[in-house]
Amino acid sequence: MKVLITGCNGLLGQNLLRTGTGRKDLEMVGLGIEPESALPEFLSQYHPVDLGNREALIEAIQKIAPDFIINAAAITDVDGCERNPELNDRINRDVVGWMAATGIPLVQVSTDYVFDGVSGPYSENDPVHPLSHYGRAKLESEALTLQGSPHSLVVRTLLLWGLGKGAKKSFTDFVQESLAAEKSVRIVTDQWGNPTLAYDLALAIWALMENKRSGIYHAAGEDWMSRFDWAVAVAAFYGFNASLIQTAVTADLKQDAERPLKSGLRSDKLLRDTGIKLRGLQAQLEWLRDERAR
Ligand SMILES: NC(=O)c1ccc[n+]([C@@H]2O[C@H](COP(=O)([O-])OP(=O)(O)OC[C@H]3O[C@@H](n4cnc5c(N)ncnc54)[C@H](OP(=O)(O)O)[C@@H]3O)[C@@H](O)[C@H]2O)c1
Repeated sequence: MKVLITGCNGLLGQNLLRTGTGRKDLEMVGLGIEPESALPEFLSQYHPVDLGNREALIEAIQKIAPDFIINAAAITDVDGCERNPELNDRINRDVVGWMAATGIPLVQVSTDYVFDGVSGPYSENDPVHPLSHYGRAKLESEALTLQGSPHSLVVRTLLLWGLGKGAKKSFTDFVQESLAAEKSVRIVTDQWGNPTLAYDLALAIWALMENKRSGIYHAAGEDWMSRFDWAVAVAAFYGFNASLIQTAVTADLKQDAERPLKSGLRSDKLLRDTGIKLRGLQAQLEWLRDERAR
C-alpha cells in the first residue's frame, strides 16, 4: 500500500514515519512545505508542496497516486488561527476538502477543540461545539473527510508532545528547561485534558488503518489531568523543585482563542476496535528519557 503523508516534517508526521517503517507492504511518500524532508531515510519520495496551492497539491496527488492519504499537516497555532481566519480556513479546512474530493481514503487528524470544554472528557458521539476559528475549521474538515470516501477516518487527539527533529518545544520541555534553570513558571489549573505522546498516536493511526476502521475515533493518552498537574508530574519525574510552579487561570493569559477548559478525550472505542491503549504520562516520560539516552 502506498501512503501519502502530508505534514511529514511536523511532530506527528515524523512519528508516523518512525512507526510506519518496516511495516509489511507499506510504502511511504512524504509531502511538506520545506524544500527537504526531515527524515528522508523513511520515504520512497518527498514532494515539497504548499498545500494551500490547490493546483500543485492535486498535481502531486495525481503523480503519486496513493492508496491512502494521512493528513498530518495543519496550522496548529490556535491564537494565530484566530488572528488570521482566512489562512486557518484554507489550510485547516479547504485543503482537507480538496484531498477528500479526490475520493482517495483519507485519515484526517482532528482535535478536542471541536468541543466546548464544559463537560469533558468526551466520547466520539458527544455533541460538538467549537469555541474558536481553529476548532470550527477542524470540525468542518471532519465532515469533508467523511464525505470523500466510506473508508476515511477522523482521529481526534489533544495535547500532543514528543520527539521530532526541529519540532516546536513541547510543554514538557518548557517546564523541564525552566525548572532546570531554577526559573519559576505559571501554569493554568483550569485546563484539563490528556497528555498524548505523538509516537503513541502514530501507532494508533497505523493500527486503525490496518484494522480497516473508518469514521471517527478518539486517540488520547490514558491520564486526564490539569496542565498544572502535568507540570508537577514533570518536576517529580526529573527531581526538580515543584514550588517553582505557580498557579494561574486561563482568563489571566488573555489569549486570542478561547480554550475548551474541562476538555479531554475518552479512547474506549479505539481500545475496543484495535486493542490499543495510549500510555499515561509517567510511561510517556520514561519513554522519552530512554529514547534520548539511546
Ligand atoms: N499539537 C497538538 O497539541 C495537537 C492537538 C490536537 C490535534 N492536533 C492535530 O494533529 C495534527 C498534527 O499536529 P502536529 O502537532 O504534528 O503539528 P506540527 O508539528 O505543527 O506539524 C504540522 C505540519 O504541517 C505543515 N504545514 C503547515 N502548513 C502547511 C502548508 N501550507 N503546506 C504544507 N505543509 C504545511 C507544517 O509545516 P511548518 O511547520 O513548516 O509550517 C508542519 O510540518 C494536526 O492536524 C493538528 O491539528 C495537534
